Amino acid sequence: MARILITSALPYINGIKHLGNLVGSQLPSDAYARYMRARGHEVMFICATDEHGTPAELAAGKAGVPVAEYCADMWQVQKDLAEGFRLSFDFFGRSSSKRNRELTQHLAGKLADAGLIEEVSEKQVYSRADARYLPDRYIEGTCPNCGSENARGDQCENCTKQLNPTDLINPRSAISGSTELEVRETKHLYLRQSAMRERLDKWIDSQKGWPLLTTSIAKKWLHDGDGLRDRGITRDLDWGVPVKRGSEEWPGMEGKVFYVWFDAPIEYIAATAEWADANGQDDASWQRWWREDKGALDVHYVQFMGKDNVPFHTLSFPATLMGSGEPWKLVDFIKSYNWLTYEGGKFSTSAGRGIFMDQALDILPSDYWRWWLLSNAPESSDSNFTWESFQGGVNKDLADVLGNFVSRVTKFCRSKFGEQVPEGGEYGAAEAKVTAEIAKRLTIYQDNMQAIELRKAAADLRAIWVMGNEYLQTAAPWSIYKQSPEDAAAIVRFALNLIRLYGVLSAPFIPDAAKAILTAVNAEGAGWPDDLDLALSALPPGHAFTTPDVLFAKLSDERREELEAQFAGE
Ligand code: 2FM
Ligand code: ZN
Repeated sequence: MARILITSALPYINGIKHLGNLVGSQLPSDAYARYMRARGHEVMFICATDEHGTPAELAAGKAGVPVAEYCADMWQVQKDLAEGFRLSFDFFGRSSSKRNRELTQHLAGKLADAGLIEEVSEKQVYSRADARYLPDRYIEGTCPNCGSENARGDQCENCTKQLNPTDLINPRSAISGSTELEVRETKHLYLRQSAMRERLDKWIDSQKGWPLLTTSIAKKWLHDGDGLRDRGITRDLDWGVPVKRGSEEWPGMEGKVFYVWFDAPIEYIAATAEWADANGQDDASWQRWWREDKGALDVHYVQFMGKDNVPFHTLSFPATLMGSGEPWKLVDFIKSYNWLTYEGGKFSTSAGRGIFMDQALDILPSDYWRWWLLSNAPESSDSNFTWESFQGGVNKDLADVLGNFVSRVTKFCRSKFGEQVPEGGEYGAAEAKVTAEIAKRLTIYQDNMQAIELRKAAADLRAIWVMGNEYLQTAAPWSIYKQSPEDAAAIVRFALNLIRLYGVLSAPFIPDAAKAILTAVNAEGAGWPDDLDLALSALPPGHAFTTPDVLFAKLSDERREELEAQFAGE
């Protein structure tokens, strides 16, 4: 048994996430966590909301509520949606927690002690009308690169160029629209990432078997000159972690907060401390996951994220942890995802294009979405959601293959033998053959789950469902029954055991259906089939079951067309 620490990238607090966000970190990390638990490992699975930065302040402003209140409300909304999608976090924290505030300040202090923080005097835009500095998205203007008039202080969305607020032409405040702006000198803290280039390079080189997507992005940033330049880790904002050096004031930094990307990943650790607090556990109980001097040496740590997050997780966050000089647990494997597109275009919050988590759950239960998203996860390239493809996944995979198998077997058994595993006959060559086939594919399924190749693993799982269907079709207990009820009984007994097996194997992907299946065959506690022969005779003759309701309803063409129209956007 191993100890596996799993974190999902923290969703920004500013609004409900769409299915592209979901499949890029939270959902695959959940499938992996469920699988690892099912294999008997000790798992700590952590997520939280990412609550600081200008997006949170601006969204709260737009909603007309104080930012703290906005965040508290949206945290609850996101937490409920996570539960709706059956994301099995051990804890869903908040980056605005006391734990994160203290740990962020602590790490900044350690970095300063190690000489890795520099105070830099720099020019910032100040708005007299708003009586405040305007960092990042608080300022808009004309892009010096492409001329777009709606560039923001951190980036031009039109040409994607990264900007500083002082780069903008004709700048204006995003809050008041005021153009009465001036440039003032103010001091900020910079993390001397460049001083850590060699250590980071060595560390990345020493990682074995990281996905190509992850290492290629990390290496590009590491060697592309710009990538590892020293970064400002403080901002002139009210909302955020106040800049302190440990628990001490930091002279010259009064009224400033840490940059959101400095404190957000620290929340992975802090949320584990929040988990301990919430469960009445002591510090040792979370430190054994995160401190190598307190038991974390044997932890295997896996992170999940979209590819845009990779630089922060391969460079900045490790720089923070290494630079502190303390023995924090560093990530062992970074699983990163490409983009999910919607009907060939981008998901867009502003244009209302695509499907958002709350809408999805209003349409169909979570398993339908989980199955399509995971079996089409953008793992080796971008993937594209279409309603047609979704309909295919639901109707063919879930309803025709899995659902139909469960329903045919249980109904046939009920009508001929009653609702209990029938007695008589023996497994023969046909059962041995399909058992061997399943055993072979099961090994591949396990290997793919282990390697976090979830799209491939979903194909393996489906293939194992298909094997049951083909077996049943060939064995045809409904025709055998006439000459030999005994032989039909053995077939049905084997098929009922296959249903139990499917309940266990399917749980990482479709946990609700898996549970319904196991409840129906009265085998809730069924464990992983380490010995397949044994697993396929686990339900003995006489074992009672109940015939389940339809597991998956089909999505009709009319309904699909309706949904296509409803979600076409503007
Ligand atoms: O890109 C995002 O959605 C960020 N909120 C991810 C943060 S991940 C971690 F570092 F907190
Ligand atoms: Zn531009």
